[in-house]
Parts: sequence; structure tokens; C-alpha cells
Amino acid sequence: MVTSRSTPNIALIKYWGNRHDAYRLPAADSVSITLDTPCVEVTMKHSPSFMFQSFLSDGTEKVLKEKDIARIEHHLSLTKEFLAERNLPDAIPESLSVVIRSAIPPAIGIASSAAVFSALAKCYAALAGNRSDKDTSIIARLGSGSAARSIFGGFVALVNDPESRNLKDEASSQISSAYASQIADEHHWPLFDIIIVPTMEEKKVGSTEGHHMAHTSPLFPRRVEAITQRRQQQCIDAILAKDFEKLQAVTEEDCWDMHNVMRTQTPSLQYLNDETYRITEEIEDLREREHLPVLYTMDAGPTVHLICEEEALDAIKRFAHAQKNCRIFESSIGKGAEVIEN
Ligand code: PMV
Repeated sequence: MVTSRSTPNIALIKYWGNRHDAYRLPAADSVSITLDTPCVEVTMKHSPSFMFQSFLSDGTEKVLKEKDIARIEHHLSLTKEFLAERNLPDAIPESLSVVIRSAIPPAIGIASSAAVFSALAKCYAALAGNRSDKDTSIIARLGSGSAARSIFGGFVALVNDPESRNLKDEASSQISSAYASQIADEHHWPLFDIIIVPTMEEKKVGSTEGHHMAHTSPLFPRRVEAITQRRQQQCIDAILAKDFEKLQAVTEEDCWDMHNVMRTQTPSLQYLNDETYRITEEIEDLREREHLPVLYTMDAGPTVHLICEEEALDAIKRFAHAQKNCRIFESSIGKGAEVIEN
């Protein structure tokens, strides 16, 4: 039996669009902060037949949709394909019972798939004889691209192997040609993420389908180029220098750019709503008035993440809790996925 625990991450440079859909190889690199909460735990045991179960934080069983089960099964078969490449074709037992316990409400803009697939990857990596963090991040990526980043704590990049850029199409689409690596650990720079959730409705189009159509946006090639030539490095430099103003500028630029790509792809995706625009405008005003180190960013949903330094924390919490009809989550920087029982 093996049990792992993991948490979501929030992207500063967003992953949007693939260069290879089936293996979830991202078109561009990305950067995120691993959060310390809410947690997902996964337990795997030998079992006479394959079984998946999922429970919510109050202990009630969540009925898994067919497409959720299919995604977990597909992830397992890709994981086996990857492990076969590492000469471990039989590392995962023929049948397993997999139990997921999640404290994250699904599809609200807090990356539940990142936490789930990084926790699954930790268990598979343990069953395969404790693979390296790099290999574990590849396994996580096969289920959800952003999950690769939750394998590490602190500040994390998801990168395309530099070698793969110089290879011809087929060789550059190898299953292991994108992986996560740590930029700085969770003690490097104490930042906080105050999360404002304006709606608990599940989104209609998930990010997996969205990634597949990103290339149809006329803005997509420019986005990939801007990240590859400039933004990724600017973000990493701002993190290493703990330069909040630079981090704010590049994070917000990249967030709006991703949402412009989403809106202009076919079919068009509009994940933000009126509440998102109102909150981000009010934060811009508050930041200017009170000179607060706070930045905002949104993933594939209307949820607003307010990332701030400690000196802004009280004011940002007050702002968040004053929002009507919103759910608030408070988190800081986490240590990444871990095996808690083996
Ligand atoms: O890992 P996925 O397939 O859920 O994609 C994540 C996409 C964004 O959350 C919008 C951006 C990111 O980098 O996390």
C-alpha cells in the first residue's frame, strides 16, 4: 500500500496549448508557485480488479463521471508506456484499488487536476521503485500538464527539454521531453495566495479540450514566442531577485495574454466573468492607493488569485472577505507532493 499527498499550484507564466496533445507536451514553458493547501490524498493498494473511488473532504463519496474514470485509466496506460521506456514494463501491478480524497471543490479555478495527478504520480513512482522527481513530474504531466509542477515545492518551472527543440518532429515529441524543475524552494520568498471564488459552478469546457484548440487563435504563435524569448526568463529572474514589481508586471501580462488567446481560439473560450473584471479593477485601485505588493492572476475559470507579500496580507484578506457571494481560500507556499505512507 502507498499513500501520497499533494496540493495545487498557481501558474505565473501559464501553460496553454500543446506541441503534442496525447503526451501533453506543452507548446511553451511555464512557471508556478506550489500552494500548501487544499490537499489531495491518494492511496493505492493491490486489488483483485481495478477500482477507483473518490471522496470529498466531508467523507461523502463523489460519484465519478465516466470521463473522469477514463482519464485516470488513460493516464495509467501512458504511465506504463513511460515506465516501459525506462525498462520497467511491469512496475505497476495489473490491478489496483485507487482511492482519492480531495478537499478541493472541482472545476472552480483551483487546479484540482494538478493536485490529483501529482498525487497519483507520486504513488506510481513509489510503486516503480521511487523514481526521481524529474521522472515523477513526467508521469504527473501525462495526466495534467500543470500537475508536473506540483511534484516540487516552492517556485517551479515546467520546461521543454532544450534538446527537443533542435530535433525533428518525431524525436521532439518523445514522452519524456518536458518535465518540471525547481527554481527555488518554499523557504525562498514568503508569498501568500488569497483565492476569491465568485462561482462554484463547474466550467463547461475543461482545460484539456481548451489546450487542443489553442493553436486556432491568431494570437497563439506570438504568445509562444513571447514566453520562449522573454517572459519565462523574466519571471524566473524576478523570483530569484524577489522583485515583486517585476513579478507583478510579467505575471499579469501573461495572464491577460492567455485569456486573449482563449477568447480568440475556435470555439471561443471566455472563462472570466463580470465579477473577475470588477475584482481585478478594484485590486488595481487598492494597489495604487495603498502601495501594496499584490498581484492577480486567473486560470481557466473566473476565480481570482491574489498573490501578495506579507506586508499586504491583512489588507488583502480584508478585501477578499468583504466580497459578497464569494468563497475565500487562504494559502501560502507548499513543499510539493510527498509519499506519506509506503
Ligand atoms: O494542467 P491543465 O491541463 O489543467 O492545464 C492548466 C492550464 C492553466 O491552469 C490555465 C494554466 C496553468 O499553467 O496552470
